[in-house]
Amino acid sequence: MKRILFAAAACLLSIAAKADEGMWLPSLISQRIADMQEKGFRLSAEDIYDINQASLKDAVVLFGRGCTGELVSPEGLLITNHHCGYGQIQKHSSVEHDYLRDGFWAMTRDEELPNKGLTVSFLERMEDVTPLILKGVTDKMSEAERVKIVSKNSEALMDKVEKEGKGIRATVEALYYGNQYFLFVYREYQDVRLVGAPPSSIGKFGGETDNWMWPRHTGDFSIFRIYADKDNNPAPYSKDNVPYSPKKYFKISTAGIHEGDFTFIYGFPGRTQEYIHSDAVKYIQDTGDPHKIMLRTKRLEIMNRYMGESQKVRIQYSAKKASVANAWKKWQGEVKGLKKMKTPSVKKQYEEKFENWAAGTQYEGITKRLAGLYGELEPLQFVYDYYSEAIMACELLKYAPKACKVDDKTGLIDRDATKETAEAFFKDYHMPVDKETFTAMMTEFDRNVPEDSKPAYFRKQMLEYGSAQAWAEALFSTSVFTSLEKVTGLSDIVVEDPALELVSHVNEWIAPVRTKIREINQQLQLAYRDYMRGQMEFAEAAEGAAGRNAFYPDANLTLRVAYGHIKGYSPADGAYYLPSSTIKGIMEKDNPEIFDYNIPQRLRDIYAAKDYGRWADESGEVPVCFIATNHTTGGNSGSPVINADGNLIGLNFDRVWEGTMSDIVFDPDKCRNIALDIRYVLFTIEKLAGATHLIDEMTLVD
Ligand code: ARG
Ligand code: GLU
Repeated sequence: MKRILFAAAACLLSIAAKADEGMWLPSLISQRIADMQEKGFRLSAEDIYDINQASLKDAVVLFGRGCTGELVSPEGLLITNHHCGYGQIQKHSSVEHDYLRDGFWAMTRDEELPNKGLTVSFLERMEDVTPLILKGVTDKMSEAERVKIVSKNSEALMDKVEKEGKGIRATVEALYYGNQYFLFVYREYQDVRLVGAPPSSIGKFGGETDNWMWPRHTGDFSIFRIYADKDNNPAPYSKDNVPYSPKKYFKISTAGIHEGDFTFIYGFPGRTQEYIHSDAVKYIQDTGDPHKIMLRTKRLEIMNRYMGESQKVRIQYSAKKASVANAWKKWQGEVKGLKKMKTPSVKKQYEEKFENWAAGTQYEGITKRLAGLYGELEPLQFVYDYYSEAIMACELLKYAPKACKVDDKTGLIDRDATKETAEAFFKDYHMPVDKETFTAMMTEFDRNVPEDSKPAYFRKQMLEYGSAQAWAEALFSTSVFTSLEKVTGLSDIVVEDPALELVSHVNEWIAPVRTKIREINQQLQLAYRDYMRGQMEFAEAAEGAAGRNAFYPDANLTLRVAYGHIKGYSPADGAYYLPSSTIKGIMEKDNPEIFDYNIPQRLRDIYAAKDYGRWADESGEVPVCFIATNHTTGGNSGSPVINADGNLIGLNFDRVWEGTMSDIVFDPDKCRNIALDIRYVLFTIEKLAGATHLIDEMTLVD
């Protein structure tokens, strides 16, 4: 009897461990709620998602087009990551007002800074609209025909829904490779103002060195406020707008956290590919990632060199460098993780088992079909990677075609609009960086892209100039698009320019590659749609309902729930990482000689005086970051980390290096998300910024 019980418990445990993987749809969360509650959650499915009354979803926003944020006050105050607000903070910065370096705090509402183009979107509702979207689709259709009908039906539905009210934005998204379609209805607010940001020495503490790593000590947060018209509706920026009054905002828990505590992340994960074929993984691991890493290593060397020499260039290139470096480092972790997990061969074995099961069914041979398609795709993908990572790394080539603005009425140059674009571009442009980048990228392009895949124009130029460097000299000294004076002085639209000439040859060359890739991708979609269903049926055949329920749709920047618990991990044999870090670790890393580790003097003083106010934990130190087993990806930055009672305990901002392969394969032993402890946020606001008026707006619970 005892033995049976023990076996049953062990079995439960194994399902439980597996279940920390997954990004679940909020509207279907009732299917997971029993598991969540068993793991410690104390609220109901309706508390998470409800369309009839306020629920936690109403306190979560898509911030911009790639981050998450959450409401923390009845007056529209919103928290997200520092790196999510980075672009805005940077745009407001100059050598005179360096908010990146010094931080920014609006001490009154009047001082809050508007941000053109920045929006936040609340999810109003989501619903399964599969039959509506697939109306008119038949089995006999080609994938291209199906795509046409699906997009026509989607457009019609979105148009209809968007008439529902002010600021309503609708999207229709495919789940499980188009086995299912969901409608997402958002309310989008356009007046979002910057309220506060710590200096980068806190918000980006550890810089690229600590990025994607644990133990971490980054205070990665920034604060914004949403403004609305008098009726609380979305409206473009206006002095007369008033703070938005949310349906729901998070209460903040200051009670502290412990290993094993239940955690839940509510946010907008961008993209995962958990169900792909072994050949796709092999390409990423052995070809795609390594080449992209190599190209970005070269770009970063160039940026770093110039940024180290001038504060102006450092400001100009800080945001650009962060985005280049971020994926660069993630890919390195991903390659390591995939190799460690032996994902290509594990998937290959799985595919064999799948085919054994599929023999004689409609799924027979599907993995071979996928392999065949990848055989066709890979050489094209390789060329495309070099197009986007090498050629398009050159800023001049991106700017030149968009530099001259045309006046629609006269067909002549619109000098004001041209000037405006030019000023925005040149504010953050340092030609020597771009010229060296061009040289390095063209050199690698020449070396690695197969001869018959190169554009004829490229070969001609290289022959004519003899080297990428000589070509760069000629290009950058003759193009008008390399200087603000030249561009603003233009009286006609430029049609002949070496940069434009190059861009037009590049476009002509890449267009058919792109078309071919799109065609193959459509066939892949079609094959994956079957394979996805097949994998679910196979799991159900093997493990019953539990097997089927373990599937969750790949991330696609729609709202998801990931749950797990606070937990340390072993990064390598003989080592174990604790799940939380404190201010002590900041002091251990502090180094005035190194830009990324040079903390504000004020923080040193506070530490020396142990002037922590109400923000110390039981050990007497200020908590800074923690890790948990929640399954997250890019886009989850800024997501609320919520405790068992639905209160905010942290802000998600990263994953650990050993776990970055979780976009493709999740390892419960190694995959951890990294969160900023909310108490460090409050400590920074109060003790460093002296912006207690913001804390007064929030609701703290102990
Ligand atoms: N790795 C985090 C994410 O993927 C943080 C990126 C920003 N920080 C940085 N040091 N680049 O977005
Ligand atoms: N920093 C990421 C973001 O910007 C989140 C980290 C991740 O990819 O998990 O969304």
